[in-house]
Amino acid sequence: MPKVLVIYDSSSGNTEKMAQAVAEGAREVAGVNVVLKKVDQAKVDELLDADGIIVGSPCHFGQMSAKVKAFIDESVKHYGKLDGKVGAAFTSFGGSGGSETTLLSMLHALLIHGMVVVGRSKRMHYGSVAVGTPNQDSIQDCRELGYRVASIVVKLTR
Ligand SMILES: Cc1cc2nc3c(=O)[nH]c(=O)nc-3n(C[C@H](O)[C@H](O)[C@H](O)COP(=O)(O)O)c2cc1C
Repeated sequence: MPKVLVIYDSSSGNTEKMAQAVAEGAREVAGVNVVLKKVDQAKVDELLDADGIIVGSPCHFGQMSAKVKAFIDESVKHYGKLDGKVGAAFTSFGGSGGSETTLLSMLHALLIHGMVVVGRSKRMHYGSVAVGTPNQDSIQDCRELGYRVASIVVKLTR
């Protein structure tokens, strides 16, 4: 069964709520195993058997958090083995700015791993974004992101 791994960091719970919604959306796709892990409970080895990897981080000075960066840096041990997996990102920020650069900081790493990054044409091109505690629209957008990634994973692993 294809697997989607949702990995996130969160200090005050906002990105965590988004992560739960992303995982819920992915679980709506039949035949996909969805695993939700906080970054400090996840091991980089878990990336290997995932077909889709969705990374979430609070915006810290316009970048991913130090914990997410450390996890991604450690993932270099699997460099070349994540090629062709499906990737996406989401972030919570305070509303001052820096959300898109945070998403791009994560997407850059996924691209360098050779992953197929999921963009969106209508809105939130680079991934899901919420200001502070995610409202219902943000939660719905996170669900859609999870659903979209899981659907693409199913198509590519068929
Ligand atoms: C070290 C640090 C840096 C931050 N930098 C930014 C920033 O550049 N822009 C912004 O809008 N919010 C910034 N914030 C606010 C957080 O992104 C925001 O509170 C977010 O919702 C926290 O998510 P969390 O509850 O998942 O930890 C920063 C917070 C911290 C702790």
